[in-house]
Amino acid sequence: LRHLLTLDGMPRDTLVALLDRAQALLDGDVRNERLAGIAICTLFFEPSTRTRLSFQRAAQRLGADVLGFDASTSSTTKGETALDTFRNIEAMGVRGFVVRHAADGAVAALARAAAPDVAVLNAGDGRTAHPTQGLLDMLTLRQAKGADFSGLRVAIVGDVKHSRVARSDLQALRTLGAGEIRVCGPERLLPDDGTLAGCEVGDDLDAALDGVDAVMMLRLQRERMEEGLVDSLEDYHRDFGLDARRLRRAAPDAVVLHPGPMNRGVEISDEVADGPQSLILQQVRNGVAVRMAVLETLLG
Ligand code: CP
Repeated sequence: LRHLLTLDGMPRDTLVALLDRAQALLDGDVRNERLAGIAICTLFFEPSTRTRLSFQRAAQRLGADVLGFDASTSSTTKGETALDTFRNIEAMGVRGFVVRHAADGAVAALARAAAPDVAVLNAGDGRTAHPTQGLLDMLTLRQAKGADFSGLRVAIVGDVKHSRVARSDLQALRTLGAGEIRVCGPERLLPDDGTLAGCEVGDDLDAALDGVDAVMMLRLQRERMEEGLVDSLEDYHRDFGLDARRLRRAAPDAVVLHPGPMNRGVEISDEVADGPQSLILQQVRNGVAVRMAVLETLLG
C-alpha cells in the first residue's frame, strides 16, 4: 500500500490486516517508535476535530514529528494553490501527508504529484471517500458483532448523497460480506450514481430499522447542500431522525454509530446519542488505533 485514498477495491486481506493491527494496538501493543524521525503533516483544507486530532495523536504515539497546517492562517489565503502548498511542505522533508479537501478527487491529485518516498492518506475527499472513517467504523462493528459479517443487517440512514463516510462504509461492508445493507433517506439526499448498488433503498425509516443489528446515522451536511433539498430541520427529524422510540424497531441489541459531528435533535436525538446502544465515542477511540495501523503500514 503506497497511499490510502479509498477502500474501493482494497483487497479483503489488506482491510482485515489493518483492522487486526488496530485491534492489537488497542489490546496492549500501544506505543512504539516505528515512525521515529519521520515527519507527517496534517494538511486540512476543511475543518475537522476527530480526524485531524486522532491522526496527530496516532502519529505522536508512533514517535513521528507532526506538523499541523491551518488553512485559515496559511498562504492559501493569499491565493497559493493546494498543489503548491503540498510541494512546499514536501520540500521540507515531510514524508506523510494526511489530507482533507472539499473537492472530489483533490487528495488523489496530490498523491499523483507526490515524490516516490512520500505517502498520502485521505482524511476526507469531497463526497468521494473517507477511508479511515470506514475502517474505524468496521472495527467498531466487529468489536460489537464479531468478525463474521455474513449475518449482519445494517441500516445506513440520512444524507448519503453528500457523504464520503457512507461511500467508504458501503465499500468496506461489501468487502467484508455484510449480509444485508439497507439505505434510508429522503429521495433528494440519495445518490443515483451506482453508489447504492446491491442495497435495499427506501425512504421509510421504520421499515429500514426493522430488526437491524446496526444503525449507521449520517450527518445532514448543510454546508454542501443546495437550497431546497430539505424542507425544514423539524420535518427532517420527524421523518429521518433516530430517537429512542424508533430505535426499538431495531434488534434489542442493535448498536448505533455516527461519524460525528452530530446535529443533535436533527438526525439523532440526545437520548440515542448518549444512550446505552450508542458506540459513538468508541468509534472515536478506535480512530486513533486505526490511524496508527494505517500510518505504520504506509510509513513504517
Ligand atoms: N468523522 C469526522 O470526519 O469528523 P471530523 O470532521 O471532526 O474530522
